[in-house]
Amino acid sequence: MGNIFLSLLFTGTLFIQLNSNSGARDTLSLGASLTGKQTIISKNGTFELGFFSPNGSKWYIGIWYAKIPEKTYVWVANRETPARNRSGVLKLSREGNLVLFDAEGASLWSVNTTNKAFRAVILDSGNFLILTDGNKSETVWQSFENPVDTLLPGMRFGGQQKLVSWKSSLDPAPGLFALHMDPSGAKQFVLTWNNSVHYWTTGTWDGKIFSGIPEIADKQLFNVSVEGDSSGLYFTYMLVPNFNALARFVLTKFGQGQQSSFESTGWSMFWSVPRDACDVYGTCGAYAACDSRNLPLCSCDEGFKPTDDRAWLSQDWASSGCVRQSPLNCSTDRFIDNSVTLPDEGSSYAASTKKDCQEACLRSCSCTAFAFNPSSGACQVWSGDLLNMRNSTPSKINSNVFIRVGASQLSMKSKTTSIVGVVLGIVGALTVALGICSVLIWRRHQQRSMDRPADSSDSFLRMFSYKELKIATRNFRSKLGSGRSGSVFKGSLQDGTLVAVKKMQGSRQDEKQFRAEISSLGNIQHVNLVRLRGFCAQGSKRLLIYDYMPNGSLNSLLFTSNSTSKKKVLDWKTRFEIALGTARGLLYLHEECRGCIIHSDVKPENILLDGDLSPKLADFGLAKLMGRDLSRVLTTTRGTRGYLAPEWISGLPITPKVDVYSFGMTLLEIISGRRNLDLTVQDSSLYYFPPFAATQIQQGKTINIVEEGIAEAADMEEVGRSCVVALLCIQEDDEVRPSMRQVVQMLEGKMEPRTPHVPSSPLTDNDGDQSNSNSYSD
Ligand SMILES: *[C@@H]1O[C@H](CO)[C@@H](O)[C@H](O)[C@H]1NC(C)=O
Ligand SMILES: *[C@@H]1O[C@H](CO)[C@@H](O)[C@H](O)[C@H]1NC(C)=O
Ligand SMILES: *[C@@H]1O[C@H](CO)[C@@H](O)[C@H](O)[C@H]1NC(C)=O
Ligand SMILES: *[C@@H]1O[C@H](CO)[C@@H](O)[C@H](O)[C@H]1NC(C)=O
Ligand SMILES: *[C@@H]1O[C@H](CO)[C@@H](O)[C@H](O)[C@H]1NC(C)=O
Ligand SMILES: *[C@@H]1O[C@H](CO)[C@@H](O)[C@H](O)[C@H]1NC(C)=O
Ligand SMILES: *[C@@H]1O[C@H](CO)[C@@H](O)[C@H](O)[C@H]1NC(C)=O
Ligand SMILES: *[C@@H]1O[C@H](CO)[C@@H](O)[C@H](O)[C@H]1NC(C)=O
Repeated sequence: MGNIFLSLLFTGTLFIQLNSNSGARDTLSLGASLTGKQTIISKNGTFELGFFSPNGSKWYIGIWYAKIPEKTYVWVANRETPARNRSGVLKLSREGNLVLFDAEGASLWSVNTTNKAFRAVILDSGNFLILTDGNKSETVWQSFENPVDTLLPGMRFGGQQKLVSWKSSLDPAPGLFALHMDPSGAKQFVLTWNNSVHYWTTGTWDGKIFSGIPEIADKQLFNVSVEGDSSGLYFTYMLVPNFNALARFVLTKFGQGQQSSFESTGWSMFWSVPRDACDVYGTCGAYAACDSRNLPLCSCDEGFKPTDDRAWLSQDWASSGCVRQSPLNCSTDRFIDNSVTLPDEGSSYAASTKKDCQEACLRSCSCTAFAFNPSSGACQVWSGDLLNMRNSTPSKINSNVFIRVGASQLSMKSKTTSIVGVVLGIVGALTVALGICSVLIWRRHQQRSMDRPADSSDSFLRMFSYKELKIATRNFRSKLGSGRSGSVFKGSLQDGTLVAVKKMQGSRQDEKQFRAEISSLGNIQHVNLVRLRGFCAQGSKRLLIYDYMPNGSLNSLLFTSNSTSKKKVLDWKTRFEIALGTARGLLYLHEECRGCIIHSDVKPENILLDGDLSPKLADFGLAKLMGRDLSRVLTTTRGTRGYLAPEWISGLPITPKVDVYSFGMTLLEIISGRRNLDLTVQDSSLYYFPPFAATQIQQGKTINIVEEGIAEAADMEEVGRSCVVALLCIQEDDEVRPSMRQVVQMLEGKMEPRTPHVPSSPLTDNDGDQSNSNSYSD
């Protein structure tokens, strides 16, 4: 009693006392326990184990990253049996059992080692082990063999193990989605919904790759090894040695597998399965339509409302979905035309008109929807809850699905119209005014729900308020740069994260259109593209919030007048990595992300460098955001002269090859360390550098191109390759230029470059404009 009293006086001491009791701060020794705010932390401080509560009412033992401000949990012990408050105790008992007791002393979760356990340790890999005593301490149990929803590098996963999503962002209990081996025995992993539907598979393992995800054979970032034994396949991924970021693979509450890395500012997803979030079975729940171009992804069908408002607001759709606003009464029901499509065929029914089709559905009380296609005369009917609907494009209007709703749903509607019909004038105007009011209120409500900070574990864009950004940038005090589309300011979010805030000028889009464009950009994530964290669209204000890049843009390092500092920073190896990373980012924009995006303004100013000088392309997709037509006004609004492909000027169709051209021009500058157009050089024949460079490269004299002072330490073969690639990219005829895929392969040395021609009318000197030399500018 006295002891506790003293400890309460010196609360700090309580912690130290109990912790010293458990030995090293990464270890729970025999007889020791954790409770309240006590934790154990791995040796180098990466992982921490202790109690946490996602919503403040239920408590769990879990492991999270100790140094990341946004709490990211990688493992949970008692996901189905939470403690009611923090007074729970995790104890390694003298008998060698690791047990979690609640405040009343009942056991909530345990690992029984039958007297073998001696201590439990959390490792820097994130693994939590129970070890035996003795010189050859053996592992009797480990968290890596009992995964929750996250795979960490070095974890061996497979056999009978399952990765199961969290139920929602506030509830780690098992959700509907799981990743595991194909139970049929095929050598593949599958993603399943509710233990029944397989909605994605890796494809079979052929000894080298999984047929559905050949990209994992590319050992750029990960080294995946797969081994099999009688109990099944196991796979492990390791980070390549020079990948110095934290990484995790998580099966999200939305049922998508996402591989992300922690950049200096936040988690950034760079690979996902299935790639399209709407391909996850049942991700929106019942009676909701999915649209991956939209934010949020899911919306209730007309005549339906969210089953659980709270879940819906925290974007936990799959666990809830939508329900009818007015209940069904088999005989009097009506149908609402929803512009949605269903992936599965309904049962076909012989009907010659839409009315017949509708009546066929109405006759069966279990029928929930029908669709009739007048041109083919096909009638389909569905029964049971409707899942996996997608918003359909207007062109498919004929295959619209008519969904059954209660009669009162429609009578509400028709009553209003009849009143308007009868009592013309004043009452009508009043109704309209009321309608507008309720729409406004509804929109307010919607907005408020979108203002909620996004959960750290999902990749959704956050919507910021203008006020919040004003505070974050201290009233737009520190300007990082400016360009034609707006100015960029440095800011610091509430949790200390540094961001770059772009204030756009003259965006001609209304809010809805802006959001649609933004959400399509939000889906684009790649290690070599600057991550868009969120946006603000308030009144006429349009702002974009990006990760802050501590090393600024490439031009400031490449063309600095202080030549000693430049050489120190940008040796050949770094330059080559920057060129290769930029090429990979462009390749992703052109081919790998959904739809094809032409960057249209590749230049050193738009290549930003993170803390490790790894390149990130900025400003992609802005043309669309500005509400401008890419093909027409571009020469005046996008692109920077000196990097502009000839087809911009001649008015030929614009293809991704314009980016290849600009990349070639940029690559030449990376190699030479000088502007392609530089009127300050002595020799006037070198004002415009590319023709000179082309001749030298053709004659194999690349040494004359590469910047003085870096050649000695450079890999001349790489330099030669890069020069040839640059020359190929700046060919006048866009068909002769390689694709970005070929550029990447040639730079990597996996493909032999063709011998380039010296351009016939080489590279018309189209009057450089180097005025805007700032990061994030356009
Ligand atoms: C936490 O979740 C429980 C039920 O899951 C709910 O009753 C409670 O209100 C939630 N608490 C907060 C703070 O959201
Ligand atoms: C935790 O709950 C138990 C009973 O359920 C109660 O006795 C105890 O005071 C609670 N502790 C705290 C810190 O609220
Ligand atoms: C642990 O296992 C031993 C032997 O199998 C058993 O006697 C004991 O009751 C178990 N303890 C718990 C807490 O399950
Ligand atoms: C901690 O250890 C892990 C695993 O050995 C390593 O990947 C990580 O880089 C280390 N972190 C620090 C901050 O030293
Ligand atoms: C462990 O090592 C110590 C000295 O290194 C030795 O004396 C002892 O016998 C060893 N114990 C066992 C169980 O091997
Ligand atoms: C999942 O399957 C079970 C039966 O296996 C069923 O009772 C339950 O309703 C299903 N859950 C959903 C959300 O459909
Ligand atoms: C990949 O892993 C295998 C086996 O774990 C190992 O032999 C190989 O050296 C690793 N390769 C790289 C590039 O890390
Ligand atoms: C359906 O509505 C009709 C007419 O309003 C009513 O007579 C009937 O009882 C209702 N049936 C059910 C199942 O509610």
